[in-house]
Amino acid sequence: MGWFTCPALATKNIKYLDYRYINKLFSVINLTMKPYKLHILVCHGKTCSSVGSERLLEVLRDKLGSEGLTNEIKTSKGGCFSVCKETNPKGGFCPVIVIYPQGVWYRNVSESDIDEIVEKHVKNSRIVERLLHYKM
Ligand code: FES
Repeated sequence: MGWFTCPALATKNIKYLDYRYINKLFSVINLTMKPYKLHILVCHGKTCSSVGSERLLEVLRDKLGSEGLTNEIKTSKGGCFSVCKETNPKGGFCPVIVIYPQGVWYRNVSESDIDEIVEKHVKNSRIVERLLHYKM
């Protein structure tokens, strides 16, 4: 297993990796990739940002770090999730965070809610009902 020469290009002496070797290589890469338990997206759209979502992500990352969860939980900034458009006055449900794979959307999340979200949802897979906007 390993290198072979394509008959059609033999005169050019070009060597290719055998597909079985490539498959084995990819299976090793997949095994070494970090499997995340959850992915938390924090909306960084204009309305959520105006009510503190950037700081919210910092607080969330600090909390996950202090709990030793940084390697298990992926966090990301997201564009507008459109929840801001569902309320009157506009933005009444901001800031918004979404947690996958459960597809749980939380609204009106504040810095003081982060401890509860991490304790209940992240560590114990329980939804924080008072912040629930939508569950897929
Ligand atoms: S800006 Fe966050 S939902 Fe629109």
